[in-house]
Parts: sequence; C-alpha cells; structure tokens
Amino acid sequence: MLEPRINTNGHENLFAPKLATGTTGHRACDNATTAMSGKSMKIPLGKPFIGKEEFAAVEKVLASRRLATGELVKEFEDALTRKFGRKYCIAVNSGTSALYLGLKALGVRRVIIPTITCGAVLNAALNAGARVVFSDVERDTHNIDLSTLSEGQLSGADAVIVTHTYGQAADMDRLDQYLKKHGLTLVEDFAQAIGANYKGRPTGSFGRIAVTSFYASKGITTGHGGAVLTDDEELALKCLYGRGSRTPAYFTGLIPMNIQMTDIQAAIGLVQMKKMDGMIEMRRTIAGRYLQGLAGVLGTIGEKPWTSQVYYKFAAILPDGVEKQAFIQRMGEQEIEVGTLFDPPLHRTQLAADVGDGQSELPVAERLAPRTVSLPMFPELSEPDIQRICQATRSTIPRLIADSR
Ligand SMILES: Cc1ncc(COP(=O)(O)O)c(C=O)c1O
Repeated sequence: MLEPRINTNGHENLFAPKLATGTTGHRACDNATTAMSGKSMKIPLGKPFIGKEEFAAVEKVLASRRLATGELVKEFEDALTRKFGRKYCIAVNSGTSALYLGLKALGVRRVIIPTITCGAVLNAALNAGARVVFSDVERDTHNIDLSTLSEGQLSGADAVIVTHTYGQAADMDRLDQYLKKHGLTLVEDFAQAIGANYKGRPTGSFGRIAVTSFYASKGITTGHGGAVLTDDEELALKCLYGRGSRTPAYFTGLIPMNIQMTDIQAAIGLVQMKKMDGMIEMRRTIAGRYLQGLAGVLGTIGEKPWTSQVYYKFAAILPDGVEKQAFIQRMGEQEIEVGTLFDPPLHRTQLAADVGDGQSELPVAERLAPRTVSLPMFPELSEPDIQRICQATRSTIPRLIADSR
C-alpha cells in the first residue's frame, strides 16, 4: 500500500516520496492537522492545495494591472481544451454558471438529472428555464440510473445531465445506448471528476456540452470558477456571447450575462493544471489508506473496472442503526469534520416542491442519502490525520450502534 506524500511548505516537493510522519505536515498558519501542544486540531473536510507558485502567479497578474478577462483566461481555456480533448472552451465564474450557459446554448426545455448530486445542478437547470425530471441512482456507484425512468417521465425530455458522482465516471457505454435509443442530448457535468477517465478517455470529453467547476474544494481550483467545453462551434459562440464577452455574433433568445472568469483566477488555474495529476495521485493514496483503515466499519464505494476514481469526495455508508447527524456530531467533538453529502436528495428539496418538479419516490436515493457521509479528503491530508480519522470512526460507530439498542 502506498503512503500519502505530503509537502511541508508550499508545493516544491509535491512529487517527492516523502511522508508526513509527525505533527507538522503543514505550515504554521494551517488549521488542518494535529497537535502542536498536545491538543488535536480540527481536520477540515477539504482544503485547496495552494503553494508558492499560485502566490507568484497572482502577484504577476496584480503587477500587470490587467485584472479582468484577458490573455490568461484564453491561455487557461486553451490548456483545458488540450487536456480534455475538446475544440472549444469558455471559462466562466462558476460551475453553476457553466451549466446554466451550456443548457441555455442548447435550448434545453426538459432535462433529466440525478437526484443525488450537488444542488447547483438543479439551480442551473431551473435558471436556464428547463423543467426537471429527477432520476434515481445506482446502488453501488450513486451515479444516475436511467433504467428507472418511466415512458411518462421521458416524454418531452431533450437532455440528460450526467455528473460522475464523487469522482467516479458513470458507465458511459451503457448511457450512450440509452441516450441514442431515446434521442437525448448528453450534458456532461464533470465538476466532481476532473482528471478521471472512462476506459482511458477523459471525463469531460463525452458530452455535446461538458461543464466543470473550479470551486475551492474541487480537483483543481481557481477559488470560484467554471468552464464549458464543446466541439460545436455554434454552441461555443453562443456560450461566449451569453457569458458577456463582446462578440460580433447575435443570438435571438439569449441575453448576455456578465459571468466571466478573471485573469487572476486563470493564473491560479494554470498552475493548478500542472499539479492536477499529482494531486489526484495523492487523493487516491489517501482513499487507499481509508479503504484499509475502515474495512468492516463503514460501507465504501468500489472502483469500477472502467474508471480511475479521482475521489473528489470520499463517500462512506453508515451501517444500520447509526444516525447520520449523531455520527457527524460525535466526529465533530473529536475535531474531525464530516460532510452530509447530498441529503436530502434533490427531488425531496423545498425548491423541487416549489417548482412542482419533485417526484414521490426514488427508493435507492432515499435509502442512500440519509446513510451517506463524506470524510475529509484533500491532497495534503497527512498520515497521522488519516489514522486519527480511522481510529475515531472505528470507536464511534460501535458506540452509536450500542446507543441505538
Ligand atoms: C456536479 C456539480 N455540478 C455543479 C457544481 C457547481 O459548481 P460551482 O460551485 O462552481 O457553482 C458542483 C459543485 O459545486 C457540482 O458538484
């Protein structure tokens, strides 16, 4: 089993085979890790991996006084098209904006989305003026399961948003057959799966439109940020126009926003892209340690043979008898942050009820959502912290089961 490789000060030794063995795997200003004076410090759920290269890149932009959308955004877009094998990229200010823009450019009117995913997917679809159909998910991957949809639900739908949940690519061959059979357009949201692949092909290279997010907790970050990728020139022009860039083109029915990315963000993104593969490797190593340390205590999501998981989130399933909020609270008392993940599922949210698009029962999601949590996952998570999290989990779960009897 590989051990996580931790840098000690910035990223200069990102790829060095060095272990964080003691108490100071992080800079003094970090709040992530263990004792300086005997007292455990809070382990957060996520933390962006930022080093001196990002500081230098931002400083350079500030010194140039060219702070808005300029050459660096273009450079970042070009780097993204190359990385994900697409012809066009339009960088924007968030993943939500990217999804909104992609759906508007496509003119989607009724879209199928997984009920277990980020609420931003629902928000973007509704803001783009689409009606929403919620789909149940697969028990083992939590990815969208279109086979559960009825003919009635499919009627009038023109697109599906696939989200590669927690960083594991969905079964794209199976989805493709289904989409072709029902004449549905694929919108690929790989916000959680930057750097993952399906049978060797990168996520983000499949959808007619693909979108991603560069939010602080994501595989690579620009603070806030996002991008739309496509091979279709007209869609790309529409996105460029809709983003608020001045373009010679005019598109009826599309009103420009101002949702552009700045050169400051792009400068960070360009550095992060260089680190992407290394950061994914670190996340995968941490996941390997969790799988080893939590075996028999929590359920975990296995890696499918067609993909290489990037572990945007390390999702774990609580055993029967363990109430989610009680687990989160007990772990919090031990200075370990645990995430609720996508709970309630989107079709059970107030927003879904308000817009009248909720559905009464999606049984797999309804069973999974109250039992699924996420454990801290970020490249710099140290070996002592992983051990602390595993030990705390191993002692907390039996106590909660005993309490429930
Ligand atoms: C699948 C998915 N889509 C969209 C978003 C929205 O991205 P942002 O937070 O950048 O708006 C997120 C997460 O934040 C996400 O996980």
